[in-house]
Amino acid sequence: MTQQTSRIKIAIQKSGRLTDRSLELLQRCGLKYTLGRDQLMAVGENMPVDVLLVRDDDIPGLVRDDVCDLGIVGRNVLEEKRLEFAREGAADPFRILRPMDYGSCRLALAFPEDSGLRSAADLAGRRVATSYPNIVTDWLRRQGIDARVIEFSGAVEIAPKLGRADAICDLVSTGATLLANHLREGETVLSSQAMLIQTPQSVPPVKTDWIGRLLQRIDGVMQVRESKYVMMNAPIDAIPEITRLLPGADAPTVIPLQGRSDKVAVHVVCRENVFWETLESLQKAGASSLLVLPVEKMLP
Ligand code: PRP
Ligand code: ZN
Repeated sequence: MTQQTSRIKIAIQKSGRLTDRSLELLQRCGLKYTLGRDQLMAVGENMPVDVLLVRDDDIPGLVRDDVCDLGIVGRNVLEEKRLEFAREGAADPFRILRPMDYGSCRLALAFPEDSGLRSAADLAGRRVATSYPNIVTDWLRRQGIDARVIEFSGAVEIAPKLGRADAICDLVSTGATLLANHLREGETVLSSQAMLIQTPQSVPPVKTDWIGRLLQRIDGVMQVRESKYVMMNAPIDAIPEITRLLPGADAPTVIPLQGRSDKVAVHVVCRENVFWETLESLQKAGASSLLVLPVEKMLP
């Protein structure tokens, strides 16, 4: 199946933990869109980029089949599908472009509080309910634990109460779901976060330029989230010490101050967050009039 049009299609989760952050990311990349009446597609107005809102489990398949050029999906879903597709003989069903800076959670084992089960080692001969049968089967095999995997498509946390399983393996973020269901968290099977993936097919030339621009903007958006623009006045001879104190700083811009020969203005972009402690150290090094500003956009 090959994409006919020259518009880039990017698949994101329709409703779930990644939806808001994924849409926000695309907006911060400059994309303006109108949501169709069926709420299944957001049509880009100012770029040839359309957003498909689908079930997260469908995203790896849509990208593998080149129905979508790009997709944003949790590593949990990606890994589950990768194992499934590998069994069907597809070795490299999608290209992993980069991890995103949101959507972190973990796929972890959990045991009923009153069960006496404490860790994976207690699972021999027991049943584990999960929506991630491939990942869990693979993990148990690698750990040398002989347990039975019971597939649940949702509401995994109630499986022990229903008598369908002795333990579960499910996504944990805040841990509130486990707490509410009297489950105790055990081993982490997979650490997850949102991932950006691309079709394994070669991208037609009409799309390459915009995909490249979009990727550069995505990198820029992720970078500015942590970056700060720092301004201060300082004695000229304190500049080496000041540069050393600033986290992830580029070469500083040094600007003369009108009517002052002893002091200069120093402007610098820091690629890490700047904390109060850093400002206090800068002050001790001789800096004054310190200002820390958020960075709005950034390109290399
Ligand atoms: C996961 C998981 C739990 C919940 C855990 O479901 O199945 O229900 O999140 O989060 P917590 O630790 O913050 O309580 P999710 O909303 O991702 O839905 P999905 O698995 O159906 O995509
Ligand atoms: Zn899902």
